[in-house]
Amino acid sequence: MRIRVDTDLCSGHARCNAAAPHIFELDDAGYNAMDDHDVTDDQLRDASRGVLACPERAITMLDASGARVPEGELRRLAGLDG
Ligand code: F3S
Repeated sequence: MRIRVDTDLCSGHARCNAAAPHIFELDDAGYNAMDDHDVTDDQLRDASRGVLACPERAITMLDASGARVPEGELRRLAGLDG
């Protein structure tokens, strides 16, 4: 899976970093300015939590085909269902 951040949408809420600081790094101004990056299978749970935590929906997870992973699947990966 791949993480993509829309830096135009990021408003510096820092919730992605709070959810998964080892995956989402903030710049000195507190914004997520990361380039696309891959996440390993063992990072999927925390990465999904970080994606879902962003109130601006600035972070997208993409599958191997480049398609956007829908929110329901993110919630499953994050262990937030049930
Ligand atoms: Fe930005 Fe959203 Fe993180 S607004 S700092 S990508 S929680």
